Amino acid sequence: MLDTLRDVLINHNANVHRGAYRLSAVATDLYDEARRKISRFINAPSERTIVFVRGATEAINLVAYGNEHLFQQGDVILLTLLEHHSNIVPWQLLAKRRGLKLAFVDISADGRLDMADMREKLSSLKPKLVGVTQLANSLGTITPIEEVVTLSHAVGAKVLVDGAQGISHLGVDVQALGCDFYVFSGHKMYGPTGIGVLYGRPERLAEMQPFQGGGDMISYVSVEGSGWADVPQRFEAGTPAFPEAIALGAAVDFLSRFSRQDLREHERELLTYASEVVGKEQGVTLHGPGAASGAQTTVCSFSIEGVHPHDFATIADTHNVQIRAGNHCAMPTLRKLGVPATVRMSFGVYSVPSDIAPVVEAIREARKMFA
Ligand SMILES: Cc1ncc(COP(=O)(O)O)c(C=O)c1O
Repeated sequence: MLDTLRDVLINHNANVHRGAYRLSAVATDLYDEARRKISRFINAPSERTIVFVRGATEAINLVAYGNEHLFQQGDVILLTLLEHHSNIVPWQLLAKRRGLKLAFVDISADGRLDMADMREKLSSLKPKLVGVTQLANSLGTITPIEEVVTLSHAVGAKVLVDGAQGISHLGVDVQALGCDFYVFSGHKMYGPTGIGVLYGRPERLAEMQPFQGGGDMISYVSVEGSGWADVPQRFEAGTPAFPEAIALGAAVDFLSRFSRQDLREHERELLTYASEVVGKEQGVTLHGPGAASGAQTTVCSFSIEGVHPHDFATIADTHNVQIRAGNHCAMPTLRKLGVPATVRMSFGVYSVPSDIAPVVEAIREARKMFA
């Protein structure tokens, strides 16, 4: 990925879609090829369903703005208590603009989606749109998105799946899943920052209004008005982050070298081991459904009695462990669990069991210091 990014910046650095000269034509070809790679990676029906954006957050905002005209006052958007702030706040802003109501599906004490509550809210509220994460970044909960899509479509709701974590840790086949939108960020799948993807079913993208205007998203411009380019360019105003998009294609090549099953097994094993080792330390409480449940992967979130997560993260840093502490941009989730913040280990393809020993050392040191 890094080599590709460097190569594009050094050797193919000309704006795409300006193609009268070779540099631009090559950059455009590479950009188009990246779109095709990403389309194949998620089994989209066509590369025209892949919109390049800055990341999952921008993708969700694009869906919220682009579909604004389809919502009427009083319509309901159903989210879940497992969502990242970026799958809550854009809908709150939309709700304010259009007079909509938001509702949230509850979670259990161990952080699983309460499917009985989801069924009840789907049938009583008849939401227009359901937004659900595939894999919660706060707790590592895997949600039953197939079931959510089926149940939601049965009441006429469209479904946006937040795949920011799911894309690299679980994978997706958007056609088999049948979701209306699927969003993800490059930097959470071994790609660069500043690039991400909105996948939309063709009919969903066709009914969306442009969100930003400018170059590249038009078919013509006159002083009286403008016409829109076809999808997906309609939603890609201005100079795109083409080096990052092409490098995201290289990240897809990298991830595609592994079997999905191997990747999932690797992260499941690490989670099992880490939960066991860290969980038996004095004062440690693990959060989430637990590795053995099959409903959690890759993330091990915990609290240490008497030690603030931020203090712990500072101590862990001295053990050369860079660990995330705080609310993980999921304040409603943590509030429901009754904890203000947690410490979170998260694993990837490069993680190994020996990464966990320094975490245990840091826990002991922190307990000695604070508890
Ligand atoms: C589940 C989930 N959704 C959305 C986001 C937002 O992603 P980004 O900040 O790359 O737009 C994140 C980032 O942590 C996430 O983990």
